[in-house]
Amino acid sequence: MLTQTASLAETNGSRVSLADTLRKRRQKLFKMINFPVVLWSGVRSSRNFPGNQLPFRASSHFLYFAGIPLENVAIRMEPPGTLELYMDDPSLDDELWHGKKLLREEVAELIGANIAFPMSELWSRAYSSATIPVQDVYLQQQQSSMLHRWLYSASSLSWIDWELAYAIVRLRLCHDAAALAELRKAAACTVQAHRAGMAATRHSRFEAQVRAAMENVIFAQQMNCAYNSIVTVHGEVLHNQQYYNALNPGDLLLADVGAETALGWASDVTRTWPVSGKFSPTQRDIYEVVRSAHDACIAKVAPGVEYKEIHLQAATTLTYGLVQLGILKGDVEELVENDVHAAFFPHGIGHLIGLDVHDMEDLGDLAGYELGRTRSDRFGLKFLRLDRPLQAGMLVSIEPGFYQVPSLLNYPDRRETFQEFVDWDRLAQFSDVRGIRIENDVLVTDSGCEVITGELPTHPDAIEHIVNS
Ligand code: GLY
Ligand code: MN
Repeated sequence: MLTQTASLAETNGSRVSLADTLRKRRQKLFKMINFPVVLWSGVRSSRNFPGNQLPFRASSHFLYFAGIPLENVAIRMEPPGTLELYMDDPSLDDELWHGKKLLREEVAELIGANIAFPMSELWSRAYSSATIPVQDVYLQQQQSSMLHRWLYSASSLSWIDWELAYAIVRLRLCHDAAALAELRKAAACTVQAHRAGMAATRHSRFEAQVRAAMENVIFAQQMNCAYNSIVTVHGEVLHNQQYYNALNPGDLLLADVGAETALGWASDVTRTWPVSGKFSPTQRDIYEVVRSAHDACIAKVAPGVEYKEIHLQAATTLTYGLVQLGILKGDVEELVENDVHAAFFPHGIGHLIGLDVHDMEDLGDLAGYELGRTRSDRFGLKFLRLDRPLQAGMLVSIEPGFYQVPSLLNYPDRRETFQEFVDWDRLAQFSDVRGIRIENDVLVTDSGCEVITGELPTHPDAIEHIVNS
C-alpha cells in the first residue's frame, strides 16, 4: 500500500528520480568536503502536553538530502556519495494512533539509501561526522553527546560543521530541476490563494475571513503555509499576525501569504488591494510609486548583479516617486544617501527563497551575505537580508513597500532625523495609505530573470478587477 510519504515523493516524479536527485546532491556536496555528515530530521513538539502535537516540519538541511519529511530519522552520508538511513520501524501502537507509515526498508529504497539501520545504531557510527544542529533543544543535546562537541546553534558553527554549512549554502543557493519543479508548484498555489483572497474581500467583514479564504486554497491542495500569513488593514505593522480588524470600505488590505509544498518548498507573495474594490486617488498614487520600484528592481535582476544594487534601486525609485508626489523634498541621490527613504521603506528589498521562506536563515547571514561581508549599520541597509552577486538558479523575493509607521514618523527624536526632508502637510493628505507592499518570487536565469509568481497581476486596474469579480 502506498502511504502518504511515498505518494508525496511520487508527486515529485518517479521513485527513481527522487533517489537520482538526492544522489546528485550528495555527489556535489562531496566535491566540496571530504568528511562524513549526519543530518537529523527533527522531532515533533507539542502544545502543553505530549499528546497534543504541533504539525511536524522536518529540518530543511535534512530535507534537501533526504527529500521527504520523515520524523525522527537521521541520514549519514560519506564521500563520495554513500547514503545510510537511520530510522525505527513504526510500532504497533504508532500504527493504532497514527496509521500506516513506510517501513525503514521502503524508505531506504525510495530515497536511494545504500544501507538502513535502526536509530540506536547511529550512536556508534556518527563519530567524526559534521552536522548542523536542529532547533529542538532536547535533540541538540543528543547530537552533542553523539558527536562529542557542544552543538547549540546553527548560526554559530565551527570546524567541520562550519565547512559543511558553507558547502550546503553553495549547493542550496542555486536550485536544481527537482527543487524548481516544487518551487513552481508552491508559486502556482500561492497565486490562486491571492486571487481567492481578493475575490473574498467584498463579502468579508473581518481580516480573518480573507485569511481563511486564502489558506483554504493552500490546505485544499495538501500544502501548508510557508510562514504565518499576514492579512491586515494595518500593513504598516510589518509582521502583523492579528486578524481581528474589521474591513472598512476606505481600507487597503495587505496580504503576505505563501504556500509550502508537502515536500517543504516555499513561496512568498504580497499584494495590497482596496477593500471597496477601488483605490482612492491617494492610494493609487502611492501604489504606483511602489509598483514602479518593483518593476525597476525586476528589470535589474540578472546573473552577476549585486543584490544590494537592487535594494538601492528600490530606494531610489521610491524616493523619486515620493519627491514627485511632494511628500519628500530635495535631491533624490542625497535623500537616499541620508536613508530618508527608510522612513517609509524600513526593510530590505527581499531575500533568498527555497526550502525556507528566508532560505537558510538558520545559518545567520552565511547564506545571505557573501563571505567577508557583514551587515551595514546604516538605517537604510541594516535590514538587508541578502548581499551577494546574483547567480542563475537563485530564487529571490522582490518586495518594495511604503509604510507610515507611527513609531518611525511620530516619535520626536526619530521625526527630527527626517524633519527637513518631509512635507508633513502633504504627507497628511495620504493618511488612507498605512501600508502597501508588492512582492513576487523571481528566478535568476542565464539571460535575466523570470517572475515565477507573475501570473498574479500587479497593475491596479487588474487588481480592482479581481476584487470586484
Ligand atoms: N513573508 C514575510 C517576509 O518576507 O518577511
Ligand atoms: Mn518576503
